[in-house]
Amino acid sequence: MQNIDWGGLPFGYFKTDYNVRCYYRDGKWGEIEVSSSEFINIHMAATCLHYGQEAFEGMKAFRGKDEKIRLFRWQDNAARMRQSAQGIMMAEVPDEIFYKMVTKAVRLNEKYVPPFGHGAALYIRPLLIGTGVQVGVSPAKEYLFMVFVGPVGPYFKEGFNPVNIQIVRDYDRAAPQGTGAIKVGGNYAGGLKPTERAKAEGYPAVLFLEAKENKYIDEAGPANFFAIKGNKYITPKSDSILPSITNKSLMQLARDMGMEVERRAVAVEELAEFEEVGACGTAAIISPIKKIVDRETGQVYEFCKDGKAGPVSEKLYRKLQAIQYGEEPDTYGWVTFLD
Ligand SMILES: Cc1ncc(COP(=O)(O)O)c(C=O)c1O
Repeated sequence: MQNIDWGGLPFGYFKTDYNVRCYYRDGKWGEIEVSSSEFINIHMAATCLHYGQEAFEGMKAFRGKDEKIRLFRWQDNAARMRQSAQGIMMAEVPDEIFYKMVTKAVRLNEKYVPPFGHGAALYIRPLLIGTGVQVGVSPAKEYLFMVFVGPVGPYFKEGFNPVNIQIVRDYDRAAPQGTGAIKVGGNYAGGLKPTERAKAEGYPAVLFLEAKENKYIDEAGPANFFAIKGNKYITPKSDSILPSITNKSLMQLARDMGMEVERRAVAVEELAEFEEVGACGTAAIISPIKKIVDRETGQVYEFCKDGKAGPVSEKLYRKLQAIQYGEEPDTYGWVTFLD
């Protein structure tokens, strides 16, 4: 194994030793298989290649100060993957198989779980694809569920430092009654063009508005959006955003810190009234936002005027990290120790 610079890891693909696979055929899931190949052999007419029968998850395992490896809220990822499967008519992965495969993939690659203290974690990528053959649009009869892992650092190179983001109005991430609330590949394909354009223009992420009226905030690229105003934690309620497990956790922590949580439609103009804004998700936990620029109107909203994350965002970030790395007790039952 090469020497890994745990503190300098980017967020990206990292080759590890093994991945875990399970095939659904004849109406049932088969045996769990271990593979050391990074490749899969599938039929050219597999539905994942033509009709977008593909869903994935993103979760992390953390090594605590006590050396123990912790999975964070895996049950929520398993449930969301089931929702995604239902949404695009794929075979659902039972929790038991999901858990067995995730823990097996982590165990087999245990040496890649970053040591405590570098802010790094083992990223876990469960993937479900239609492998059955269809020409003519219909769901496959065969599926492959696999789990691969790799050590990662922060999603944005800025880490917990504030980022600039861009509001896009000429592209939608998901249709109002479409697949925005499930984690399927098509949503990300639709977001590539505006995201790459934003990067070229100096913004690491985009802020999508809901597609129907283009008035309300949906989400921030691969992360949910939240804002702080006085004693309130405000986050969009929309049928076309992914229900983020990080956001759900932050809402709980905010409540327990005595804050009021509002989940509701958030109009773009409200940005002018917010004291702190951020993007939240497994990859970054919280990315504080420094500046939001509306690409079309030129309107600029500024936050973190001293260049630092706001105090509430910072407190929430530290609290969630402390639970994930086992520095503070997990009173919510969010953490599962790898046995
Ligand atoms: C579109 C989108 N929104 C939000 C999130 C954040 O969700 P979570 O906190 O469960 O990682 C993700 C990442 O999974 C995402 O891809």
